[in-house]
Amino acid sequence: MSIAIDLSGDVALVTGGGSGIGEAIATTLARAGAAVGVADLSQESAARVAKAICDSGGKSVPLQMDIADPTSVEAAIAKLHAELGTISILVNNAAAWVVKEFKDTTPADVERVIGVTLVGTINVTRAALPDVVERRGRIINTISDSGRTGERFMSVYAAAKAGLIGLTKSIAKEVGGQGVMVNGVSPGTTSTPGGSGFIEAAGGAEKLARAYPLGRIGEPQDIANAVLFFSSPLCSWITGQVLSVSGGFTMV
Ligand SMILES: NC(=O)c1ccc[n+]([C@@H]2O[C@H](COP(=O)([O-])OP(=O)(O)OC[C@H]3O[C@@H](n4cnc5c(N)ncnc54)[C@H](O)[C@@H]3O)[C@@H](O)[C@H]2O)c1
Repeated sequence: MSIAIDLSGDVALVTGGGSGIGEAIATTLARAGAAVGVADLSQESAARVAKAICDSGGKSVPLQMDIADPTSVEAAIAKLHAELGTISILVNNAAAWVVKEFKDTTPADVERVIGVTLVGTINVTRAALPDVVERRGRIINTISDSGRTGERFMSVYAAAKAGLIGLTKSIAKEVGGQGVMVNGVSPGTTSTPGGSGFIEAAGGAEKLARAYPLGRIGEPQDIANAVLFFSSPLCSWITGQVLSVSGGFTMV
């Protein structure tokens, strides 16, 4: 006897699905049978990931989307509706960051980091929530341990991610009665194209790994596995939670 995760019939929207953690999430949900809208600022990246899913027998459409722009979000969701149907799994994964001392942070940095990471996630959630409620579905937000414990040189980003924790819990309370579960995954340092600058600045993956009880930094699949759980029927009575997926680095 075995337990299988079957998401066939589900329609997932994954933001930032064109790279790193989002790519692993999109691919993993597709492998479990979900039809996946791969949304990314980069049309080229979204197209590459959606094509890879389709080439391996899955169902996917690429969506060019700037989560910071509500008009772009609505247009991409309209395309998703036309091609795949109503969203049952929303994965808010796209974010923006700058790595610099707080005293050097410019108003433009603040506008971009808060505008994409926090306001962008709110934009997508507002646009997709009617679908997710209709489908009694799931919302999973990619947060960051920086939002739970703080991170030097990433203060504005950490503030935006801490905001996402409040958003996750508040929406979970609002829509729990309608059968929707809202949770967050909070990655530790993970080897991705976007994470490479931080890893280098911190002295490299091997040096960072020494601080991790499980002896290594994360791989995108580590995070995708947790998102798969929160997307699946195995997650049946959990909402408003933020799970650190960080090899034991953060134990809160
Ligand atoms: N890599 C890490 O160490 C780490 C740690 C903690 C949290 N995270 C979080 O994981 C998520 C994914 O990060 P990653 O490391 O895979 O980064 P990545 O840069 O490899 O991928 C991010 C993707 O998001 C897209 N994107 C950026 N701005 C966008 C926008 N305005 N609209 C739509 N798409 C946009 C990018 O084009 C890119 O394809 C982010 O929320 C990040 O904060 C990453």
